[in-house]
Amino acid sequence: MQNPIGLDALAIAVPEGYLDMGDLAAARGVAPSKYTEGLLVSKMAVAKPHEDPVALAAKAAKRLFETSGADLSKVGMCVVGTETGVDHSKPVAAYLHRLLGLPERCRVYEAKHACFGGTVGVLSAIEWIASGAGKGRTALIVCTDIARYGLGTAGEPTQGAGAVALLISEKPRLLTIEPGLDGSYAKDVNDFWRPLYSKDAVVDGHHSVQCYLDALAGAYNSFKQAAAEMDHRDALNVARRCYHVPYGKMAKKAHRHLMALEGKTEAEADESYNLEVAPSLRIPSQVGNIYTGSLYLALASLLDTEAESLEGKRVALFSYGSGCGAEYYVGEVVKGAGAYVKALKLSQPLENRRRYTIAEYEAIRQADNDVDRKPVEAPQAAQNEVAFLGVENERRVYKA
Ligand code: CAA
Repeated sequence: MQNPIGLDALAIAVPEGYLDMGDLAAARGVAPSKYTEGLLVSKMAVAKPHEDPVALAAKAAKRLFETSGADLSKVGMCVVGTETGVDHSKPVAAYLHRLLGLPERCRVYEAKHACFGGTVGVLSAIEWIASGAGKGRTALIVCTDIARYGLGTAGEPTQGAGAVALLISEKPRLLTIEPGLDGSYAKDVNDFWRPLYSKDAVVDGHHSVQCYLDALAGAYNSFKQAAAEMDHRDALNVARRCYHVPYGKMAKKAHRHLMALEGKTEAEADESYNLEVAPSLRIPSQVGNIYTGSLYLALASLLDTEAESLEGKRVALFSYGSGCGAEYYVGEVVKGAGAYVKALKLSQPLENRRRYTIAEYEAIRQADNDVDRKPVEAPQAAQNEVAFLGVENERRVYKA
């Protein structure tokens, strides 16, 4: 029998400050309950210019190796999933490769498909290892994004920023994931996109919700088909479900939709939501949407809270990327994951963040407009943190 393949380590990184959703509601003249109950969001991470997607990716990946003790010299593949990269050509993964000191014998690239880019990396890594091409090496996948909509738009309360690093190996300490046991869905839709001239995303908000739900149904049906083809119908029985989380309420809507497909009423769906979904929304509700990393932030939240009691049980993962592509797959929590997760301290990065005022948030947004032409400045980040310093001679400069 083939060795189990799956998720060996996980770490998150968030910017040093956030905006409280009550403050945003007051500034925009909206009832706070619209954000906290209507969207299920309470805080939104805000990235300063030195906390660009490269710096956030490096912060998450460094943390992963520090907390897990994994061997950096064994990495043979490094994929960065992002839809807010820093260059139209040079991948974020190239900067990350140098900042981490990864081996030169390494396949390094960036994957873009809206919020689906990280999952593309995870599934490619599973298949790379399963094929034997990995030759005992591991794959590092980092999802990193800064979600940005126009000030005062309906999308504004669903912004966020952060990164999630995942290590895939053939000796997984967190989740085993079976190659090929996944359900794909794709359709060309215009729900959310970002034209080349713009830093802000363009979104047809209510249409995007429907596209997400249609993709969930499509991916779930494909998953059922794959499970039947592999004679693995038991894979439909899961203990917890993590959904892509642009905002918490979307995950709740997704769960109702999936349960309706299974013939359950809305009341039954809401009852199972509290058990199966709510534990995965604790961290996302304090960070906001981080696009490619949002599903894996939900997974981090779930494992941080419940890994021990879930050992030997299955968790479903639904990844959605606008435009659109989606995948529904499952992982089984490994025996011993509960004790190991304690050492990973998954939610520690949320401690000691600074609460920005509205004026500070709007000033950061303004500075962000010119960030790609910013002249090099003295480091603004803490001593041991990677920071974007600015641009010199058309080249981006980082403090390692
Ligand atoms: N108290 C409590 N609840 C309230 C309230 C109040 N005072 N006022 C309104 N609400 C509720 C509404 O009833 C509604 O609940 P339901 O969704 O259950 O009906 C909820 O708050 C939101 O209200 P609206 O629909 O009126 O909100 P809106 O029109 O201002 O916009 C949005 C909501 C469309 C999600 C908008 O925030 C948006 O465009 N966000 C960006 C796009 C997005 O995240 N899409 C998700 C799917 S696409 C995807 O997942 C990819 C991705 O990452 C972007």
